[in-house]
Amino acid sequence: MDAQNPDGTAGAQAPGKVIIAGEHFVVLGAPAVAMAINLHSRATARPTRPGTIQVEADIPLHLAGKQQADMVDTRGLLEPLRLAAKETLTYIGRGKAGVNVDVECDIPVGAGLGSSASTTVAIINAVAGSQRRALTRKEMFQIAFGPEKYLHGKPSGVDQAACAYGGVIRFIRPNNITPLRLERVPSFLVCDTGIHRPTRRLVNAVVRRSEREKNTFENHLDDATEVSEAVVRALKAGDDEELGLLMNYNQHLLVDIGVSHGKLDKLIEVARDRGALGAKLTGAGGGGCLIALCEDEIARRKLARALRRENGIPYKVEADPLGVVAMSDGRVLK
Ligand code: PMV
Repeated sequence: MDAQNPDGTAGAQAPGKVIIAGEHFVVLGAPAVAMAINLHSRATARPTRPGTIQVEADIPLHLAGKQQADMVDTRGLLEPLRLAAKETLTYIGRGKAGVNVDVECDIPVGAGLGSSASTTVAIINAVAGSQRRALTRKEMFQIAFGPEKYLHGKPSGVDQAACAYGGVIRFIRPNNITPLRLERVPSFLVCDTGIHRPTRRLVNAVVRRSEREKNTFENHLDDATEVSEAVVRALKAGDDEELGLLMNYNQHLLVDIGVSHGKLDKLIEVARDRGALGAKLTGAGGGGCLIALCEDEIARRKLARALRRENGIPYKVEADPLGVVAMSDGRVLK
């Protein structure tokens, strides 16, 4: 590998992600299916004075809407990024080294599209590169748990797995991640409600509720497991009709555990009325984004227009097959 310039500068890029099935239930042990998407974050790391870790980030708070951007604690956003750099140095046995990290992120924050996991794995790759070390995807995935725990409290790991591995994955637990080889990736439309919320609060609420309502959640977990496994089969078979039905059922389970939101419900209804084969929230919910499965590009374009009229913010995303990659001068290094 030479992801590094002579002055030690190394770059990396990582995708964001959507969860096709199994969010929240994956924290409680069910499988999830996630797909890396072509919204990216990029990190550049440069060795500096020993013991200094400096992170600067250009994160799209403007996409959170003015009022909510004011509520986002930018210092709070930087700390996990610093932690990603620090834990990488420690992991590679260079705990006393120093590094300057510059981060750019095209992924809206707090929308369930994996902005934190993406920036984290991009930083891990770049910081290791700045010390002339190449890490495996598995190692980057593992190191990312530190910053993700700082931010989310109890992450399952599905976000950073999707960002590290790329493509479409089935995730059950950290030692059970399967990249799915698909002949064709379905056409999803992502739509942001513009309502942004902390994953930690939503995940904690679901975990507490699962402890209070043990029997109900046992059934939910069985259902969610079946849904995710059936989603894997539908993806492999290229059966979009079935996949859409499963997404709708998954949404129904998410409504049941209280993580949807009025605006999500409204936009999901519009998506289904306007021809989506299926639609559900993606990520932690409580606002954030939905994904809608579209028959083809024309249907997706039409749906994007309809959702924009309802004050949604649509993104026509594609799958990112690469996952995290080292970069130099804007080019991906193999
Ligand atoms: O951070 P989000 O909104 O992408 O949510 C992550 C998915 C959850 O299942 C809700 C949490 C987790 O760690 O799996």
